[in-house]
Amino acid sequence: MSKKLFIETLGCQMNTRDTEHIIAELNAHSDYIQTTNSSEADLIIINTCSVREKPVAKLFSELGQFNKTKKDGAKIGVCGCTASHLGDEIFKRAPYVDFVVGARNVSKISQAVEKKGTVEIDINNDETDYEFSEYRSSNFKANINISLGCDKQCTFCIVPSTRGDEISIPAEIILNEAKKSALSGAKEIFLLGQNVNNYGKHFSNKESEKYTFTKLLQEISKIDGIDRIRFTSPHPLHMDDEFIEEFASNPKICKLIHIPLQSGSTAILKDMKRGYTKEWFLNRCERIKAKVPNVRISTDIIVAFPDESEEDFLDTLNVVEKVKFDQIFNFKYSPRPNTPAATMEQIDSEIGTKRLQTLIDLHKTHQDEHMEKNIGKIHSVYFEDLKPNGEIMGFSDNGLQVFVKGSEELLGKIVDVKITQNSRTSLKGIVVE
Ligand code: 5AD
Ligand code: SF4
Repeated sequence: MSKKLFIETLGCQMNTRDTEHIIAELNAHSDYIQTTNSSEADLIIINTCSVREKPVAKLFSELGQFNKTKKDGAKIGVCGCTASHLGDEIFKRAPYVDFVVGARNVSKISQAVEKKGTVEIDINNDETDYEFSEYRSSNFKANINISLGCDKQCTFCIVPSTRGDEISIPAEIILNEAKKSALSGAKEIFLLGQNVNNYGKHFSNKESEKYTFTKLLQEISKIDGIDRIRFTSPHPLHMDDEFIEEFASNPKICKLIHIPLQSGSTAILKDMKRGYTKEWFLNRCERIKAKVPNVRISTDIIVAFPDESEEDFLDTLNVVEKVKFDQIFNFKYSPRPNTPAATMEQIDSEIGTKRLQTLIDLHKTHQDEHMEKNIGKIHSVYFEDLKPNGEIMGFSDNGLQVFVKGSEELLGKIVDVKITQNSRTSLKGIVVE
């Protein structure tokens, strides 16, 4: 008889892909069906994030809740970045947890489930050659990892200590996965890594050397059936002209790009060890905009990093004003254990809250400006989700969420849509015959 699996995913796109790998590996060894009700599950897994403090606190309150409401004999496992970071400390705080499997140890999940007390958190574990079993949460899009870990050591970031050193996955494995996904009907490929445009710099297998991210994009776009390629996250430092040229000229590459700014102040960027200046960042954005007129740019910004002065913050606002990002993921700095920034001079939390609000308010005016410009335009939309109200939702090739009235016939199709209405975050339109 099949067992029931409840799995919750917190955090980034990498964690979403890790969850797919976890489900695939569990199913390869045992028969699971997924449930959204933790109290009927035989196995409860939380795939965590530890990039900021909040999700870590949430983990322990949720674990307590799951333990109270779980059915007799059900197992509880903690996976992901917090698992890597806290290891067996998790058992001390939540002794009823059965196993702990880190973000770089997903291949060990099936054994861990079988052995109470297992802790698999080696951040040097090399899974780049590991062939995971198949499972995808969407029929229309395929997430594919192209690298693991990160070598950057940004002073605010816990990721290098939870996901280990950066290694690229051999191109043959990536291309095979992309071909398989295309055959199963996925028209969109989403390439994932902590610094995707550093792809090819470190392989554990030396023979695979000399492969750039640009070349990988070119090879993937040759695959029949793949119409859209997306990726996250590129690092501003590695945004060379060759890459920008490929981004601009390859029609299969979606014209939405995430360029994490973090701060607009060159002094703070230096303290963050980001490796670029305000001017370099602006220059890259200007170049992309000049080459790709319909590009949409998203970013990550941290406010109230240690020592951030009012002047530094004004520099960030100045970059926001100049680039007019289409989307900003804003964060108030959160000190993380064993990171250099955690021991620097901290900013008063209220100042951080105020700066965050100023940034959000400025960004809203840009969002409205951008979204209104879409009225009357035609976007090519890939439809993926039928809503109960008779609408069908998809994304334009530059990442705009678009709704039209329509039936399931549109699912999985890329169709031209004329935009008739906008809100701050999505568009409505009609299909153009
Ligand atoms: N505090 C606040 N935000 C952080 N991020 C990473 N570490 C921290 C931290 N300590 C943000 C960065 C990163 C995104 C994924 O999370 O902006 O790009
Ligand atoms: Fe963290 Fe910096 Fe690596 Fe991104 S590049 S994962 S922010 S250390």
